[in-house]
Amino acid sequence: PKIIFSGIQPTGVPHLGNYLGALKQWKDMQDNARETDKLFFSIVDLHALTIPGNADKLRQNRREMLTSLLAIGLNPERSTIFYQGSVPQHAELQWILSCTASTGYLSRMTQWKSKLSTLTSTPLSSSSPDPTISSPALKHGLFSYPILQAADILLHRSTHVPVGSDQKQHLEFARECVTNFHSAWSTHIFPSPQTISLDSSSSRIMSLQDPTKKMSKSDPNPKSKIFINDDEATIRKKINAARTDSISATVGEYDPVNRPGVANLLEILGGFTGKTGEKVAEECKDVTLAQLKMLTADAVVAGLEEVRERFLLLGEDTEVNRKRVKETEEVGTQSAKESAERTMEKVREAIGLD
Ligand code: TYM
Repeated sequence: PKIIFSGIQPTGVPHLGNYLGALKQWKDMQDNARETDKLFFSIVDLHALTIPGNADKLRQNRREMLTSLLAIGLNPERSTIFYQGSVPQHAELQWILSCTASTGYLSRMTQWKSKLSTLTSTPLSSSSPDPTISSPALKHGLFSYPILQAADILLHRSTHVPVGSDQKQHLEFARECVTNFHSAWSTHIFPSPQTISLDSSSSRIMSLQDPTKKMSKSDPNPKSKIFINDDEATIRKKINAARTDSISATVGEYDPVNRPGVANLLEILGGFTGKTGEKVAEECKDVTLAQLKMLTADAVVAGLEEVRERFLLLGEDTEVNRKRVKETEEVGTQSAKESAERTMEKVREAIGLD
């Protein structure tokens, strides 16, 4: 049987990148899972602590993400939905894994290197930036972030991890953690987790305003992204205003390098119709860019309609909703803790902490 695990940071309502890159796959995997498969979806609040904020905001964001996960159709009776911070074993395993994780490997992670280059003046091209580089803005949590992510995955002995392609490197690191742990303690506890990603290589959903950057929660421009609870008019407006190019008035070939804006619309349209960007381009090569925008907007509006309705309904501050949230939290925490403790018993025994 499969053990499927994935996580999302509670940093606001998910956008189209989160939805097409990950959440939609979570829901599809849940619906297609066999009875013996297990599914875990975590709201990774400990990871979110790497982004400075305040307690009330985090509390609100956790709840809002829980509502979002219910809105996309996750079923708490089928999937274990839980806050990472409510299950202390995640942090416990992180420490243990950090004792066999290589700092050299961590310092080569692209996400870390791009943080380094924004927070200090270290060039991105530097092959091995010094992790001890002294800038007060650089926190250790950002550096060890991938170890906590590996702990999330290993703690539930996960076999399959559905993520967007920006997370592929973190998953390679998680497999490295498995190998390191097993060889350091001469044991074999963890399966090697497999990455499940949309199959086309450029499956990252890009910003609508600058299609050379990924669609990101941290982008301050609201026109750069579509949220899963945007209404029809907003979705149409944002897609109409999406940056394309004047290379040709029609779609032509799928060409993410020279025509990133067009390729991004093709990926989005494909994401909702179960096709790759290449395949959509083949079918639409004579379609004008204005028509492409209309087709894409139609697909997004239709594809998100149910999600948005459920989001609005579940988001209302009613007795029923408060109860639903509380029950989901309790059931999820309980089930995640049981799974975590089963693994930690094996881990503590293997290293002599039993
Ligand atoms: P996070 O919260 O940034 O994003 C959640 C999921 O959305 C995907 N994603 C995208 N996919 C395509 N195009 C985009 N523009 C885009 N932006 C985001 C991400 O790939 C991700 O799947 N480190 C993780 C959270 C995490 C995790 C884990 C994931 C913590 N522990 C264990 C898997 C397993 C993160 O920050 O995702």
